[in-house]
Amino acid sequence: MKFVFATKNEGKVKEVLKIFNTDKIDIITMLDANIDVDIIEDGNTFDENAEKKAVEIMKISKMPAIADDSGLEIDYMDKKPGVMSARFLGKDTSYDFKNRHILKLLEGVADEKRTARFVCSACAAFTDGKIIRAKGVLEGIIGYEIKGKNGFGYDPIFFVKSIGKYSAELSLDEKNAISHRGKAMTELRNKILEIIK
Ligand code: IMP
Repeated sequence: MKFVFATKNEGKVKEVLKIFNTDKIDIITMLDANIDVDIIEDGNTFDENAEKKAVEIMKISKMPAIADDSGLEIDYMDKKPGVMSARFLGKDTSYDFKNRHILKLLEGVADEKRTARFVCSACAAFTDGKIIRAKGVLEGIIGYEIKGKNGFGYDPIFFVKSIGKYSAELSLDEKNAISHRGKAMTELRNKILEIIK
């Protein structure tokens, strides 16, 4: 079965294609499907935004669609940027700037107060109206420097304590094995496979 992945984020596409492509599921991007819309992410939760993206792209493409909504919750910043992660400090502001800004805000803050997590809600919307959901979390801390060349977004400041590396130092396979999106999308894929088998 063919699904459109409702995102324009190349970093996400790379991660999700690796998880999803099986002989039963074929993922195409919005670019492949010739869809160029910006969906307004005005929900208060990751769940609401993921469902909105999946349903709108399913309706436009008339094909089943998958979507995720994800972000970084920093405890010291009252769980911000959260659902605003992509728009934090302006959606066109570079992540180098955003990451340096966060490091500055947390200057002098001790390890135990630097806790943070990546959260991901995933959703599949089928043309018959059926909705499937899955969720994943990756716990870590905000590190003390910008490190690593892989990944995207806030990966270079997110230190995964359990591995002892910054998220941007992980290979695609290492990240997918532990990440919020890896967990949510693997669960979503397995639920979809149950339905279409
Ligand atoms: P979304 O497209 O609304 O889900 O935006 C999610 C935003 O959260 C991204 O643009 C990044 O800023 C951040 N984010 C989500 N997942 C990750 C990740 O795996 N690494 C780094 N940043 C992430």
